[in-house]
Amino acid sequence: MPLISRRRILAGALASPLAALPHKEAAAAPAPAPALKTLAAARGITYGCAVAAPQILEPDDFTALVLRETALVVPENEMKWADMNDGPGRDDYSLGDAMIGFARAHRLAFRGHNVLWYWRTPGWFQELPDRKSAEAAMLRRVEAMVARYRGRIHSWDVVNEPLNPADGRPDGLRKAVFLEQIGPEYLDLAHHAARAADPHARLVVNEYDVEYDLPEHDAKRAAVLRLIERMRAKGTPVDAVGIQAHLSVRRWPFSAIKLRQYLADLAALDLEIQITELDVTDELAPADIAERDRLVAEEYARFLAVALDEPAVKLLTTWGLSDRHSWIVRHETNDMKWRKDGLPSRPLPFDAALARKPAWDAMAGALRAAPQRQVG
Ligand code: G3I
Repeated sequence: MPLISRRRILAGALASPLAALPHKEAAAAPAPAPALKTLAAARGITYGCAVAAPQILEPDDFTALVLRETALVVPENEMKWADMNDGPGRDDYSLGDAMIGFARAHRLAFRGHNVLWYWRTPGWFQELPDRKSAEAAMLRRVEAMVARYRGRIHSWDVVNEPLNPADGRPDGLRKAVFLEQIGPEYLDLAHHAARAADPHARLVVNEYDVEYDLPEHDAKRAAVLRLIERMRAKGTPVDAVGIQAHLSVRRWPFSAIKLRQYLADLAALDLEIQITELDVTDELAPADIAERDRLVAEEYARFLAVALDEPAVKLLTTWGLSDRHSWIVRHETNDMKWRKDGLPSRPLPFDAALARKPAWDAMAGALRAAPQRQVG
């Protein structure tokens, strides 16, 4: 995000005291149903959602909804390295600071997303001349980021999406910038540095393509398990595995048996499991809104019935909260998931007018049916 936008958002945040949400909040529909965070907490699960800075720092009725429904927020983009860096050593923490400040003021937990992600790594890093300088730059990033928010982060995605078995390496690691610049040990180095910088934050390996019954998903699940076993054998700290869960209706086959087995295998490694980025896109559903919402809700229900049945799943985060704000509606990446008829997608539990959708009912039903677990 350009620095000018950061300044505008921060100026807006200062101009509108966070305690004084606009009257729209009072005008929002009364809440006859419990909040998702309440249903989740009753089972020992933390429920949260991804937010972008303006959505919480320029308070409106959506901000009020976040405060009503969630117990945790995660910044959608503001902490990604390339999004906050303007050259070597030139990091802008202002939005991250403001978002954490908001979370603390409202007693929300905060997930860190993410320290390292090949996709959002500054261009200059890729130009570094040798392994030594790349390792030093990576460690400076990890140490600076994690230490800055020490004691205030629920969990950190330390290396986002480190695996890609399709790249053909026996260890399943993704052939991308950190591996190429530093070597496979970059992941262990990053986790050790993160632990040293904040001993309290859970350290998470966050992956996608582990949800469905496809050969690539079988391979990714196996690769995650092998990676964790290797990290454990080497004494590399890792506390949790994230399942992103960007789901779609009518697209891929689902196997409750395979998902259940994956969760059980992770739990057997004494890991916490986090559902980190849940949403359900409707690009293959008909235009009719009622039918779309029904299919989306079915997909939420089908996935969550299995996922929340595993007591090691302690965190559930949706990638957004209302269809008003979603990366899919904004058409940012992954064009496969955009509707071809131009209608806005409806991937989240609340619609753009902030009314509960069948997806909300599906989430509430799954939370109510989930077994009680120990609070993480
Ligand atoms: O900030 C600029 C803005 O200044 C500019 O005017 C606008 C015009 O295109 O672009 C804005 O940046 C966009 C940014 O989102 C903020 O909205 C980028 O183009 C866009 O690529 C970026 O997309 C994000 C994407 O990650 C890549 O970082 C999505 O919002 C975000 O939802 C998505 O999240 C990822 C998770 O981090 C990891 N797992 C997958 C998930 C979905 O792709």
